[in-house]
Amino acid sequence: MLEIKDAVAVITGGGGGIGLEMAKYWVQNGGKVVIVDIAAKFLEGAERELKDMGGDVLSVVCNVTSEDDCAKMADAAIARFGKINLVAPFAGIIKDGMMLSPDKETGKVTRKMSLDQFKSVIDINLIGVFLTVRECAERMINNNCQGLICLISSTGSLGTAGQINYSSTKAAMSVMPKVITAEFFRRGMAGKIRCVAVAPGYVGTAMVKGMDQKALEKIVSDVPIGRLIEPAEVASLVGELYRNEALAGEVYFIHGGLRLGSKG
Ligand SMILES: NC(=O)c1ccc[n+]([C@@H]2O[C@H](COP(=O)([O-])OP(=O)(O)OC[C@H]3O[C@@H](n4cnc5c(N)ncnc54)[C@H](O)[C@@H]3O)[C@@H](O)[C@H]2O)c1
Repeated sequence: MLEIKDAVAVITGGGGGIGLEMAKYWVQNGGKVVIVDIAAKFLEGAERELKDMGGDVLSVVCNVTSEDDCAKMADAAIARFGKINLVAPFAGIIKDGMMLSPDKETGKVTRKMSLDQFKSVIDINLIGVFLTVRECAERMINNNCQGLICLISSTGSLGTAGQINYSSTKAAMSVMPKVITAEFFRRGMAGKIRCVAVAPGYVGTAMVKGMDQKALEKIVSDVPIGRLIEPAEVASLVGELYRNEALAGEVYFIHGGLRLGSKG
């Protein structure tokens, strides 16, 4: 079993939502955190909160779609703490819409998802994760670090209408742990640097709680436990995945009993 005490977590999207909750969990358990977000304004409040909890915190402004930013961010983590033990590439966005929208009367397509709408989600949720993981894992290997890469997939990985961009990236998150674990296995490193993914259902972050209340009620009515998942519950799962060294290469769902699968 690994201990979180004194371990170093790099968390992208650490300025808010699930990322910030992950950072709080890590600090509460005696770990050190590198919180990473796209603008300083997202990091200031988070850093203050974590420091008030007694946390040893480094804030790094980094656009995860930039190769250069990701390399500098991973260097900054090593320069400050000398090691990385948890990589949590949680920065992510949604830009929902139907791929094709036919007119109800004519039946002809009047709108389609733009390439930009599709690609902007791929850039952050897939390429951003690839760059974050590649740069951090490189430094983990070169600095002889032990720990976990924990990606964040979603129940959307199974296919949600209106999310062809998002669902595609989250499906990728569920296969990447298998690829990375297989590659590290070939090099005899899979026990030292493990890779998994968590796949949450509807989590009560500001984004979800701020939705149209009717739509939110409909969502919650489909969740057997009768409520949204708390961000702290996702963080706690990641903590257990970190500690338990038997867990590797797999996706762990956390959705309150949701029936999974594509719905029309
Ligand atoms: N909220 C949910 O219900 C839910 C469910 C399943 C999975 N997830 C996943 O969890 C992760 C976090 O979601 P959240 O609900 O906390 O969202 P959020 O919007 O609260 O947080 C995302 C963070 O990522 C940052 N970010 C966005 N683009 C960035 C970029 N290019 N570079 C660096 N940082 C960037 C944002 O500034 C923000 O702080 C996402 O990957 C999301 O897909 C969320």
